[in-house]
Amino acid sequence: MERLSNEGRLTLGGADVAALAAVYGTPLYLMDEDAIRQNCRAFASALADAYPGDGHVAYASKAFCCTQMARILKEEGLLGDVASGGELLTVLKGGVSPDGIIFHGNNKTEGELRYAIENRIRRIVVNGPEELSMISRIAGELSATASVSIRLSPGITIDAHSAVQTSKLDSKFGVPIETGGAMDAVKLALSLPNLFLAGIHCHLGSPVTETEPYRMAADIMLEFSAKVRDELGVTLGELNLGGGFAAQYLPEQTVKPIEEYVSVIAEAVQAAAKRHKLPLPELVIEPGRRIVADAGLTVYTVGSVKVIPGVRTYVSVDGGLPDNPRYMLYGSKYTITLPERASELKTETIALAGRCCENELLGIDMRIQPVKPGDKLAVLHTGAYNYSMASHYNRVPKPPVVMLRGGKPFVAVRRETWEDVSDRDV
Ligand code: LLP
Repeated sequence: MERLSNEGRLTLGGADVAALAAVYGTPLYLMDEDAIRQNCRAFASALADAYPGDGHVAYASKAFCCTQMARILKEEGLLGDVASGGELLTVLKGGVSPDGIIFHGNNKTEGELRYAIENRIRRIVVNGPEELSMISRIAGELSATASVSIRLSPGITIDAHSAVQTSKLDSKFGVPIETGGAMDAVKLALSLPNLFLAGIHCHLGSPVTETEPYRMAADIMLEFSAKVRDELGVTLGELNLGGGFAAQYLPEQTVKPIEEYVSVIAEAVQAAAKRHKLPLPELVIEPGRRIVADAGLTVYTVGSVKVIPGVRTYVSVDGGLPDNPRYMLYGSKYTITLPERASELKTETIALAGRCCENELLGIDMRIQPVKPGDKLAVLHTGAYNYSMASHYNRVPKPPVVMLRGGKPFVAVRRETWEDVSDRDV
């Protein structure tokens, strides 16, 4: 986590942020490995404490994925959730055992599914009937039994940006319970060869700021499980309730503690299982952002400060949309500070502009200390969905990821060069 030093300078994981920027250059992603591990442990111990059945925390690697992150998962004993062949390759490279990997996606390719089945991964979370048939065929060709669970759409609408509301009826994700699609998918899975139906999955969307939607999801999913038992005589062993646990981006935000999310889920699952006379399912949760968001920050160098009197002040930095598209996509808000003068009062209000050839911003009406060209500027809590969503827009090379362990920096992902962004051209 970031802190202020006695000299009023910003530190992350015990290291001076501006000094790291001087060594590694900007823009620069910094990630505090110790904070990531603490968050992993908080989820794992909360689940072990609150849930008497088998429980697993699967990190949603889409939030931040690189080989070092996978090594951390392996060492912390978390499962890894992946959503593409590239993420699957990365977590395998980092040493996560195939029987700890869960594969998601609403339109996985034949090649990705083949790769997953060849590696005998723990679970493929299937989005619909076409995929079930494809997996059954590929598993047959490979003389394997693919272990699947079915993603259901429980029809819950959370209070979040529409791009990340993923469990309402009107969504590309999952088979809806209310239309009968879910029961049809279960019947199909049970009828096809080379498949083992392990359970059911849902993901509400992200971020979910309240705990109540998880309670509702547990109720709806286990009610469905009971229906499957009553109509088909089959008990589904696994219940995966997805991720979405909110992380803190602004100092004035209060987010629910990890333990609160987990205990609400654990209690709701136990209560619903009891009500329906079902055995306790193997319970999986899939936090992504809550494990990495507050462990990271991005450092830039200020290039220009353009004051338009009576209108606005634009502070332009050497990154932007290519390394953090979240303000442009979702209007996501962040806190900024000058790492060398972090204890000074924030007296200015600015728009933080990126370097790309369009009106792209990292935020508007942001409070900051008096700022001038050449200053280093830090955007806090960028550990989730920044590096993982980075693009090469304007052929801007991606920044490196420097991690901190016990206060010592090391490069987890090296800085890209101009050559890197053009070397696949033929
Ligand atoms: N499980 C599944 C099946 C998911 O689709 C996701 C996220 C997660 C778990 C983890 O959600 P988390 O705990 O990280 O909120 N790009 C967006 C977020 C998209 C999330 C997509 N799925 C953003 O920058 O906010």
